[in-house]
Amino acid sequence: MSLAVAYFADEAAPAERLARALGASSRPLAVHRFPDGETMPRIDPPAGEATVIYRSLDHPNDKLVNLLLAADAARRAGAKRLFLVAPYFCYLRQDAVFAPGEPLSRDVIAPLIGARFDGVITVQAHLHRTTDLAHTLGAAADNLWAVEPLAAALPSYAQPPLIVGPDAESTPWAAAWAKRLEGEAVSLTKVREADRKVAITAPNVRFKGRPVVIIDDIASSGETLEQAAELARRGGAASIDVAVVHALMSESATDRLERAGVRRIISTDSVRHSTNAAQLAPLLAGAIRQMIEGR
Ligand code: R5P
Repeated sequence: MSLAVAYFADEAAPAERLARALGASSRPLAVHRFPDGETMPRIDPPAGEATVIYRSLDHPNDKLVNLLLAADAARRAGAKRLFLVAPYFCYLRQDAVFAPGEPLSRDVIAPLIGARFDGVITVQAHLHRTTDLAHTLGAAADNLWAVEPLAAALPSYAQPPLIVGPDAESTPWAAAWAKRLEGEAVSLTKVREADRKVAITAPNVRFKGRPVVIIDDIASSGETLEQAAELARRGGAASIDVAVVHALMSESATDRLERAGVRRIISTDSVRHSTNAAQLAPLLAGAIRQMIEGR
């Protein structure tokens, strides 16, 4: 079965890396824009019998329509099996109706995407209240953890680092990090007061003289990481590094983190950012092979 990776021009670099890791051909998708603002992506036929569309779903409102249209184009161009690799998967944070009058965004967007694909591969999806991603999508799903590629991009520490998860939901992930770095894991207590305001407390956490690694799945405003770093700095941490999977934050957020005492910030290439230090292609390629082979 022929295998191809189709991608949009702005993500050529990570998509080409994925195609190389898979030994697949790669197909740029050309997007035509009509005078009225509608768009039409086009794939050069024939598509691979198995086609992977690479599309990370940061800035989803700009990307979703072309993704859905590209999936239809790939099917019509001969893709018998169609997969989506979305290293960052959007709209999973609104996974509950937190206040009357809000939508349950997860249950609107995920099935809309899932209906077009045989399988979806993503990384460190925000599954705080989602127990079964495949069920939510209505398609096969693989949610990969990025501990290994990020850990490999960190320096070695003279003493076991303290792994800090900024909220209760990060506990399982922090434990995996602690195992990988042979350190201790703690989770802080976070209350979100507004989009760009969180209150974090760390009762009984001893930072003094210890190298600290703050981990998180997403940095959006950067506020969570900044407040966690402030606590570690005030507690006398020997050094503070940050490892985040999806750096959705603006570039200026990195300055704020540095002012909060952060020495090094690393992220994966799921979203293009100056902090990208870990490439996901090998991890993604392994997951695609498994999904295609039905393992
Ligand atoms: C929250 O549940 C997530 O795991 C992140 O901690 C959150 O999305 C970070 O957002 P921000 O950078 O805006 O504080």
